[in-house]
Amino acid sequence: MRALPTLRFCKGFGKYRLTFPRTVSRLSSPAIRASCERIVTRPALMDIPTPSRLDHLSDTELTARLDPDLLPKHLAIIMDGNGRWAEARSLPRIAGHREGIKSVRDTISLCVELGIRVLTIYAFSQENWNRPTTEIDGLMGLLEHYLSTERNKLIEQGVRFRTIGRIDALPTSALQWVRAAEQETAHLDKLHLTVALSYGGRSEIVDAVRGLVREAQDGKIQVEDIDELHVQQHLYTHDLPDPDLLIRTSGETRISNFLLWQLAYTELYFTPTLWPDFRRRELLLALLEFQRRERRFGRVFSSLSS
Ligand code: FPP
Repeated sequence: MRALPTLRFCKGFGKYRLTFPRTVSRLSSPAIRASCERIVTRPALMDIPTPSRLDHLSDTELTARLDPDLLPKHLAIIMDGNGRWAEARSLPRIAGHREGIKSVRDTISLCVELGIRVLTIYAFSQENWNRPTTEIDGLMGLLEHYLSTERNKLIEQGVRFRTIGRIDALPTSALQWVRAAEQETAHLDKLHLTVALSYGGRSEIVDAVRGLVREAQDGKIQVEDIDELHVQQHLYTHDLPDPDLLIRTSGETRISNFLLWQLAYTELYFTPTLWPDFRRRELLLALLEFQRRERRFGRVFSSLSS
C-alpha cells in the first residue's frame, strides 16, 4: 500500500512542508526525499474539516472559514433536480423551475459578496428542446419574467449578464429580453454571469472548428499553426477563465455536454441536494470542500511551489 505524504505547518514561514512517513523517508533516495520536502504553499488538507463535520456551524461561521485567496475565480453550475423537487410535492414541473430561480438569486448574491468573479449556469441545453412544449414554454416564460423583474437588482449588484449557446433558437420575445439585458449590463464588471441557453458543449466545439476553418480558408491562419490557444479563442467563453469548480446538484454524476473543453482541469462537486434546495449554505459547503482539494494540473505536487 502506498504511504500517504503529510503536510506540516512550518512556523515562521507561513508555509507548509510536505513530508513522508518515516519508512518511506528511509527507503527513498536522497533526490526523491529532497524533491518531496520542498516547501509548498498549499494549506494542509487535513486542517480543513470535511463538510459533514461542519453541520453545527452557522452560515456566518462557515463563511468565516473560507480562505478568500482560495476561492474559485470561475464557478460553473449544472442546476439539476427541479422536476424531481416539484414531483415530490405533487406540483407541476414548472413549480420546481420557479423555485430554482430562488437558488439562482442566492448563488448570485453569495458570489457577489465573496468576490467570485465569474459564474456560469446551465439553464437550458440543446437536448432540452426535446421536452414537452408546455415545459419549454414555461421555462422561456420564466426566463423573460426573471429578466424583467430582476434586471434592476442585477445592475445594482454590478452583474454583467451574458449568454452562451445557439440562442437564435429562442422564441423572439425571450431573445429580445436576453439581448436587452446583455446590452444594459455590458458595462458592469463585479460578477460575470453567463447563462447557458440552448447550449451544447459539442456544438460549441463545432462552432469553434467552423470559425478556425473559415480563418484558414481566408488565409488568416496556417493549418499547421493551429494550437489549443486558437481553439480556446474561438469558444463562446473565449474571454473567460476556465471554471475552477463545477457543481452539479440532484445526485447525477455526469457532465451532460456542458463546457466540455473548459472543464479539462476543473474540480467536480456532486451533491444529492436538488437545485431548488441548493441555497447559500449548500454553496458555502461546496466552496469549503473545493478548498480542501489539491489541484495539480497534471504536475507533481511539489512542483506547485515553483
Ligand atoms: C434541470 O432540472 C433544470 C433545468 C432544465 C432548468 C433550470 C432552470 C432554472 C433554474 C430556472 C431558469 C433560470 C434562469 C436563469 C431564469 P430538471 O428539470 O432536469 O430536473 P429533473 O432532473 O428532476 O427532472
